[in-house]
Amino acid sequence: MSNMLDPYQIKKDFPIFSQAHPSGKPLTYLDSAATTQKPQIVINAMHGYYEKSNANVHRGIHHLGNRATLTYEGTRAKVQNFIHARSRKEIVFTKGTTESVNLVAYGFAEQRLNEGDEIVISAMEHHSNLIPWQMLCRRKKAKLRIIPMDESGTLQLDQLDEMLSERTKMIAVVHISNSLGTINPIEDIIKLAHAKDIPILIDAAQSAAYYDIDVQAWDCDFLVFSGHKVFGPTGIGVLYGKEKWLEEMVPWQFGGEMIRSVSFEESTFAESPQKFEAGTPNIAGAAGLAAAIQYIETLGKENIRQHLKALLGYATAQLGAIEGLRIYGNADKKSAIISFMLESAHAHDIATIIDNHGVAVRAGHHCTQPVMAFYGIPATARVSLSIYNSREDIDRLVEALESVRLIFG
Ligand code: ALA
Repeated sequence: MSNMLDPYQIKKDFPIFSQAHPSGKPLTYLDSAATTQKPQIVINAMHGYYEKSNANVHRGIHHLGNRATLTYEGTRAKVQNFIHARSRKEIVFTKGTTESVNLVAYGFAEQRLNEGDEIVISAMEHHSNLIPWQMLCRRKKAKLRIIPMDESGTLQLDQLDEMLSERTKMIAVVHISNSLGTINPIEDIIKLAHAKDIPILIDAAQSAAYYDIDVQAWDCDFLVFSGHKVFGPTGIGVLYGKEKWLEEMVPWQFGGEMIRSVSFEESTFAESPQKFEAGTPNIAGAAGLAAAIQYIETLGKENIRQHLKALLGYATAQLGAIEGLRIYGNADKKSAIISFMLESAHAHDIATIIDNHGVAVRAGHHCTQPVMAFYGIPATARVSLSIYNSREDIDRLVEALESVRLIFG
């Protein structure tokens, strides 16, 4: 059973919206793809951890040490359920999507790549799922190959099969494009990859909050996302990896927490996930992440998607009616992200002027410079919608854009 969410009710869960914008206008936050706002229960969970349970994990025999460990490992179990992983051992905490991708590039792909091999990514990757592979290819004299996209921002998957060969050692693809909103058919891509025995990583940074993720049904080899884009805190993220791959992978940071035995001559390492979590982890972040997942599950992803779909339709129609406005990214399957440009004004001017109206959008290349290069533009303004946004927010955006048009003619 699905219910339409009430964004006005949801907004009350987010204390940030109780403050006024310096302009005196309501705060209209349309930048959730950059980071989502945090509900009170996430803030309380982090605060409560420091107030009641603070100690280091996996070490303390004492009461607080046990509480901290329960908090931290409890979040691992929560994440396991959230993405339907087979085992808790398959969940590694990192500081975010970027670190998760880098860990796979160094710990996994680097070990398997030889000169002349290939790694495949798509034309719409965020820099965090592009540069680690580009650098790896440079180190190994390997080749980075790109799945092309068309003008609508849809991947041209008919070309993928013939791009893959015994030289392809890794595929890394984004689920939802952060700059275009395209939802990629990752299950099809995973099937193509596995038909040729190629491991595949899915960047779920923009999808984890809103779309059902089932790593076992999808059968992906790795999946990454960040806490701060799922209503959780910054500084914590997730790497899911199939147990067999995590066992094979080498750690890239060494120190406390990740060892089995140490002498001056030699050290041996713990099993996954501890092997990849050297040093004191982000325990408060884990407390917040568990609360964030709880919050999403209480709302229900199906309800969230319905709300976003309706809002995307409204926003696309309203923006589309503005003269001289062009939307970049018109794939059939889209998430609630709209990149656009006005004929008359630069993206940064748009964002600056509408900020005076209390409206927050992101302007720039959105860490996807190759996407901007594809369209021959330096930047776009980007609206990204979430659970606390309503039609009223879109109306305020449209009104604010009208003032941009008045200034720039
Ligand atoms: N990746 C984030 C964004 O798209 C920062 O804005």
